[in-house]
Amino acid sequence: MQVVGELRSIREIIGEIKKREMTIGFVPTMGFLHEGHLSLIRRAKEENDFVVVSIFVNPLQFGVGEDFEQYPRDLERDKELAAAAGCDLLFVPAAKDMYQRGYATFVDVDRLTEGLCGASRPGHFRGVTTVVNKLFNLVSPHRAYFGQKDAQQALVLQRMIRDLNMDLELIILPTIRESDGLAMSSRNKYLSSVERKEASVLYRSLRLARELIDRGEKDALIVKKSMEDLIRSTRGAVLDYLEIVDTDELKPLESINGKCLVAVAVKFGATRLIDNIFVEV
Ligand code: PAJ
Repeated sequence: MQVVGELRSIREIIGEIKKREMTIGFVPTMGFLHEGHLSLIRRAKEENDFVVVSIFVNPLQFGVGEDFEQYPRDLERDKELAAAAGCDLLFVPAAKDMYQRGYATFVDVDRLTEGLCGASRPGHFRGVTTVVNKLFNLVSPHRAYFGQKDAQQALVLQRMIRDLNMDLELIILPTIRESDGLAMSSRNKYLSSVERKEASVLYRSLRLARELIDRGEKDALIVKKSMEDLIRSTRGAVLDYLEIVDTDELKPLESINGKCLVAVAVKFGATRLIDNIFVEV
């Protein structure tokens, strides 16, 4: 596995790969890799000749007072894990190269970014769509792999690709979970041992939603109220949002019909965790 940081170097290597007509699979990450990231890298390896993984803690997608500085970083460990999962080229750009002095260009996806995490984290998705656009331009992948764990992010990027006629396929893969159902996340590292136990309430609340919907409940308010009661009964949990939305425009639904996304965000102290499931009725 090669590791490069320079933008010029990545262009050269990608140029060579393209000359050889190899397909490129791409997994953008912010590092501190876990099984969720590795599942994306393994799938990229299965479906492409050459796999690029990026590690870049993107300052543009963190708000004021968020955890940009504290975000966990361990490049040496990440290198080993990425290589073992099948990464051919690890791209680790520097912020000063990604955002040069005088940087002025941003990508914005309307409407889909207004609710859910977009409401709690103003400017977050603008940071994500801008950096992913830049990374796509540098890596020019045939396929890019994203986790359902960040469902809104994946759906927003899918819309960006379609709307801007970008020539690549976005593939969304299932959320990888700990044995108690907690979705794997680099941020789980922030949790105290008590919070770590309580954090399984996110997935328990989603399972409760699925149960109610499977039993025929169509009223979104009733489903949300049951989830809310469960979350509020958990000591350290502070509900950030809880929504049932359609999967096209991510607009809140009153009545559950067709395919929808049940999404939840909960804070434990300063740590904000998100999770979601798709349900279809
Ligand atoms: P990061 O949080 O590092 O996640 C990188 C990719 O891994 C995302 O597509 C995310 O959805 C996926 N992922 C994270 N946890 C997962 C889990 N438990 N199961 C499956 N997939 C999981 O998301 C970002 O970075 C950034 O916003 C990025 C897209 C890199 C842009 O900066």
